Amino acid sequence: MNTRVLTGITTTGTLHLGNYVGALRPAIAASKAPGVESFFFMADYHALIKCDDPERVEASRLQIAATWIAAGLDTEQALLYRQSDVPEVCELTWLLTCVTAKGQMNRAHAYKAAVDAALAAGEDADAHVTMGLYCYPILMAADILLYNAHKIPVGKDQVQHIEMARDLAQRFNHLYGQDFFVLPEAVVEEHMELLPGLDGRKMSKSYDNVVPLFEGGAKALQEAVARIVTDSKLPGEPKEPEGTALIQIWDAFAQPTERAEMRAALRAGLGWGEAKQRLVALIERELGPMREQYAALMADPERVEATLQRGAERARAIARPLLARLREAVGLRRSRLLSTPSTPAPKNEAPPLVKQYREADGLFYVKLTQGDEVLLLSPGFAQGRDAGQWWSAIKAGQAPEAASVQSAAWPAALQQLLAQEAAKAAQKAAAKASP
Ligand code: TRP
Repeated sequence: MNTRVLTGITTTGTLHLGNYVGALRPAIAASKAPGVESFFFMADYHALIKCDDPERVEASRLQIAATWIAAGLDTEQALLYRQSDVPEVCELTWLLTCVTAKGQMNRAHAYKAAVDAALAAGEDADAHVTMGLYCYPILMAADILLYNAHKIPVGKDQVQHIEMARDLAQRFNHLYGQDFFVLPEAVVEEHMELLPGLDGRKMSKSYDNVVPLFEGGAKALQEAVARIVTDSKLPGEPKEPEGTALIQIWDAFAQPTERAEMRAALRAGLGWGEAKQRLVALIERELGPMREQYAALMADPERVEATLQRGAERARAIARPLLARLREAVGLRRSRLLSTPSTPAPKNEAPPLVKQYREADGLFYVKLTQGDEVLLLSPGFAQGRDAGQWWSAIKAGQAPEAASVQSAAWPAALQQLLAQEAAKAAQKAAAKASP
C-alpha cells in the first residue's frame, strides 16, 4: 500500500518565504517520490477559529491554492483540496468529539497559551476561548483520520496535535472493535524551523519579520531583503557569515558551490548591500518563474477552482466509504428490527457504455454513460482519432481533466466497463481455441 502523506495550511493570510522553504518546497519534492500519495489542503474550517473576516478567508483560500500550484505541485498526482469542500470531515469531527476526554483538550498548547495570555492580562481564564479553539485538535484529527494518512509533516508546534490524533484513533478503534483508523505519525523536518526572519528570529507574521513569497512581486522581495538585519561593518571589512540571517536565507536557495562562494566573498570584505543584491537575484532565480505562474493563476480563478473541485471529488471518494463504515459501527444505521433489506438497490444498475460521436460543432467527443447519466465527457477534438486516443489514455489510467468529470461515479463505471471488456475478450479467445 502507498504511504499517505497529508498536511494542511490554515487560510488566514498569504504565505511567506519560510512557509515555502519549510513546508511547500519539501512537501512538493516528497510528493514526487514513488509509492507516495499526497494530500494537501486549505484548512479553511480551521481559519474560522482565528478569523471572522469572510473576505479574508475567501481570498486566502484562493491565494494559497494558487501558491501550491505555482510552486510546482502536480495536481494530477497529489490531491489538492479545500477542507470545507469535504463536509464529511465535520461529521467525523463529531464522532471523534464524542470519544475525546475533556481533560485531554485542557492540555492542548493552543488553548493553554490563550488561557495564559488572558490570566497574564488579568482577565478571566477563558475570556478569549471559543469552543472552536478549544476543540481545534479534534477537527485536525478528523482531517488526518478521514484519509487514513500515515505521515504528517508539521512544524514542532503541531506535534502534540498529531499525538492527540493518534490517541483518538486508538480510542475509537478500541471502543468500536475494529481497526478503522491508521495511527498517524508526525514528521518533523528539522529544517522547517530553520529559515530565520529578517531579524534572525523564526520567520513569522507575528514578528513582522517575513519575506513575502509572491505577494507584492519582486519589489516586495527586494524591500524585505533590504531590511535584513546585519552588523555595521563597512564594505572592505571582513565579515563573519556564519549565524547571520542573510547566510541562512542564502543557503536555502544556493547550490553548494554558491554557499562556499558567498562565505568567501563576505570574509574578503563584500559589502552587505551588495550581498543583499546577490541574495535577491538568487531567490529570484527560483521564485521569479513561479511568481509569473502565480499571477496567471490568480488572473484565472476558474482554473484554480476546477483543480480544487477535482481534488475534493477525489478526497470525498475516499472519505465517504470510511464514513459509511463508521456510521454503521457507532449505530447510526437502519434499525435491525426492520425487515426490508438495509442496503438500497444500487442507484444505477445499467451497464456502463462508451460512445464516440460528432456534435453539431463539428468536433468529436467521447462520453462514458451509465443509464441516462453522463459520467465523463471528453473535450471536443477536431479529429476523431484524437478523441479515440483520449479515451485510450483514460483506460490506461490517466486522470481526466477536471472539466471532463461529470460524476464521481466514473472510476467505478470505468472499472466495470474494463471488466466487461476483459470478460468478452476471454470469451472470444475461448471460442477461438475450441475446435
Ligand atoms: N493546524 C495546522 C497549522 O496551523 C494546520 C492543519 C489543519 C493541519 N489540519 C491539519 C496540519 C492536518 C496537518 C494535518 O499549521
